Amino acid sequence: MDQLEQLREALLAEVAGAADLTSLDGVRVSALGKKGRITAMMKGLGGMDPEARKSAGQAFNVLKDEVATALDAKKAVLEESEISARLASETLDVSLPVRPVTEGLLHPISQTIEEVVEIFAPMGFEVAEGPDIEDDFHNFTALNFPPDHPAREMHDTFFLPRQPGGTRHLLRTHTSPVQVRVMQDKKPPIRILAPGRTYRCDYDITHTPMFHQIEGLVIDKAIHMGHLKSCIIEFVKAYFELDELPTRFRPSYFPFTEPSAEVDIGCSRENGELKIGAGADWLEILGCGMVHPNVLSACGIDPDEYQGFAFGLGVERIAMLKYGIPDLRTFYDSDLRWLRHYGFAALDVPTLAGGLSQ
Ligand code: PHE
Repeated sequence: MDQLEQLREALLAEVAGAADLTSLDGVRVSALGKKGRITAMMKGLGGMDPEARKSAGQAFNVLKDEVATALDAKKAVLEESEISARLASETLDVSLPVRPVTEGLLHPISQTIEEVVEIFAPMGFEVAEGPDIEDDFHNFTALNFPPDHPAREMHDTFFLPRQPGGTRHLLRTHTSPVQVRVMQDKKPPIRILAPGRTYRCDYDITHTPMFHQIEGLVIDKAIHMGHLKSCIIEFVKAYFELDELPTRFRPSYFPFTEPSAEVDIGCSRENGELKIGAGADWLEILGCGMVHPNVLSACGIDPDEYQGFAFGLGVERIAMLKYGIPDLRTFYDSDLRWLRHYGFAALDVPTLAGGLSQ
């Protein structure tokens, strides 16, 4: 029994003295493990007479429980102090400023398209897309360009090599083929906005062989020129963020609209500086008109039942005007200094402070 008492004291002292969870686990194994000291001593019970074995067995069980309880209690204490030690040593300073992240910027073309879409979305316009490589039917014929008509020349078309059957694809010269595709696919009412790349063989300070347009198309039963005018007037005011912006609809010609108009906005040019808003001068901004009945028929829409309007604007042109970018060719030079100067942070939501009266 003395031996038992000695073992008890030794084990409890070891438990109490364990400095961390690893050494505590060592104590557990050496006390209660298969080859542990209590187990070894219990093996001696076999040689005792039954009475003595019974009481010694009970004493061993009491010791086992007592040591196990002491181990559990010590474990809880050590775990607790380990957590406290970590909390004290590992500090996280949430007030530190984050490291600056060098992010890309939105190209003014993307920004401008987003702004225009944002203005027309509340008027119910959906974005539609079409292919850059078109055929003659969608780019010209369905849009009422008569065969061999000089209007086809106006567009300085890039043609692809002729195919075996003689047909020739082309790079679309405007976004108007998207109108055709939408009218062929969808029943009116139609209200779409089609931004995209367009191509013409031209290169100078205001022309690049690849540029962007945004097409608008509205088709319904009772659409008239008044709808076209109010839509465009609301748009230019919202886009240039001006409450008042003089507009002028000047008669013009496009094969696919009748009547057709070019829209000018008021501006002033003083000391070589262009200012958009009231002023003595006019600046051409977009083309538009009532969809020609021949276009509706070519797209499977009955012109006696439906009519509508369309408009097309040059994205680079309106971006240059709003953001004061003097040379169109710089848009596609991929000069990082230019992009950093004229680019927009991804979170620059269009402000639309002026115009749009919703
Ligand atoms: N597609 C014409 C162009 O590129 C612009 C336009 C579109 C004009 C729709 C009127 C209506 O010149």
